[in-house]
Amino acid sequence: MSGNKTLIMIKPTAVRKGFIGPIMAKISEGGFKIQAMKYMQLTLEQAQAFYAIHKDRPFYGELTEFMSSGPIVAAILVNDNAVEAWRNYIGATNPAEADEGTIRKLYGTSLGENAVHGSDSDENAEIESNFFFSATERF
Ligand code: CMP
Repeated sequence: MSGNKTLIMIKPTAVRKGFIGPIMAKISEGGFKIQAMKYMQLTLEQAQAFYAIHKDRPFYGELTEFMSSGPIVAAILVNDNAVEAWRNYIGATNPAEADEGTIRKLYGTSLGENAVHGSDSDENAEIESNFFFSATERF
């Protein structure tokens, strides 16, 4: 059975460019409800822990340095089949390959700086949600 939540982040470049507002509007338009949300900057060590699943990939260093380079927005979004629904909604990982009108097409600039993150499985949605939010921060 599919879960109903996913962990998302608005990445540093999108925040720097002033895209928090437009992306929040897209979240609402897409029918995603916000269960938890915070504005914060990850330390390099936190980014390394969050993306530990990718630690053997060649882009791990670049990814974790970028993700700790400025403030992000992290949120738990709720929707039916949330992980897949969000991944379909934001478009392909590489903004150049994302469908017109998707968040990554509109607000992403490159494979690394692709505007937003989304959990890739229900299991990781649980792990990633627990990384950012305690029970008292969820509504
Ligand atoms: P995200 O959904 O945050 O999950 C892992 C991230 O790694 C992914 O989005 C991309 O931004 C990033 N990524 C994947 N492949 C590459 C790559 N070849 N070079 C740089 N970053 C990458």
